[in-house]
Amino acid sequence: MEAVEKSGQTAGPAAVPVDVAAAGACGAGADAATANVCGAAASTCAGAAAAADACPDAVAAPCEATAAGRAALDLIEQRSSTRQFARNTPVTDEQRAAVLHAASRAPSAGAMMMYSIIDIQAQETLDRLAVLCDNQPFIATAPWALIFVVDYAKWIDLFEHVGCFDPAFVQETGRAPRRTPGLGELGIALQDTVIAAQSAVIAAEAVGLGSCYIGDIVENAEEVAQLLDLPPYTLPLSMLVLGVPAKARPATLHPVENLVMPERYRRADAATLDRQVAEMDAMFRPHARTAGERVCDIYARKHTSPFMAEMGRSMSCWLKNWTGEAPLQG
Ligand SMILES: Cc1cc2nc3c(=O)[nH]c(=O)nc-3n(C[C@H](O)[C@H](O)[C@H](O)COP(=O)(O)O)c2cc1C
Repeated sequence: MEAVEKSGQTAGPAAVPVDVAAAGACGAGADAATANVCGAAASTCAGAAAAADACPDAVAAPCEATAAGRAALDLIEQRSSTRQFARNTPVTDEQRAAVLHAASRAPSAGAMMMYSIIDIQAQETLDRLAVLCDNQPFIATAPWALIFVVDYAKWIDLFEHVGCFDPAFVQETGRAPRRTPGLGELGIALQDTVIAAQSAVIAAEAVGLGSCYIGDIVENAEEVAQLLDLPPYTLPLSMLVLGVPAKARPATLHPVENLVMPERYRRADAATLDRQVAEMDAMFRPHARTAGERVCDIYARKHTSPFMAEMGRSMSCWLKNWTGEAPLQG
């Protein structure tokens, strides 16, 4: 069966991976026809800067790269989500360690590492997550899942541990007595968390594992908090399922119209919107047959879906858990 996202959206046609080395002088727009990266042919594209001029929406690869750099770019170019895992090829301890170490090497605001990674290998937990995350059975077929939890509880514990909440400390430093995390901390902790998750994704590819994000981990807040013992000041933001891919996975096309905006935000005009619609329809053929079908499809299956409503409800719960206003667990 073709890999299908939970919402029934099949992946678009395979992009021919942009081989930066083979493209020679310039990886940008190396395969304009198939990858839809850039309208300018590689031969007219002298470099990343030129590519940006010729096609401001292009996300250009650097033209010069070391062998290691090219390997990294190829890895990024060729990655695609994995939803089918080889049954008889286990994830090794070395692979697990490499992925978790890479996550810990991600940039982090103030090096505060405002996240925790819950490492899930127990089949019964995977089974439960498959149900709680919008009933996606393939989750239960993965040998490994990582849940990246936005975590300020560990800092509250540290503050407490070293005495920051003690009256003597407060008097001595003149700092506020005890405060819980707010939206400021959330803003940066969210970034810490997702950057760590994406580092894990890239490392997984590098060691021969495939992965897929599961956004629905933010649903069913009460049950997920209970299942994972999540305390106040936490929020499970990103989940990855990982394993050895069952088969080769062609890279998925990604739309790039109306993506990069030179210097200032630019609200799309009608012509740009038309190009954007056409690009998406073209990528998702044969699913999209009439103009705008892909956008309408997103409206129906995502924007107005019951799972999105549940995500919204659950995220309000998680926000109150984060601030401690209404902990989901005692
Ligand atoms: C935040 C986030 C949440 C996602 N949630 C799901 C999910 O619940 N189920 C699923 O099958 N794929 C999920 N995906 C995978 C996307 O569908 C996939 O990344 C997208 O279709 C692009 O395909 P590619 O990753 O193969 O390039 C998610 C991706 C992201 C970044």
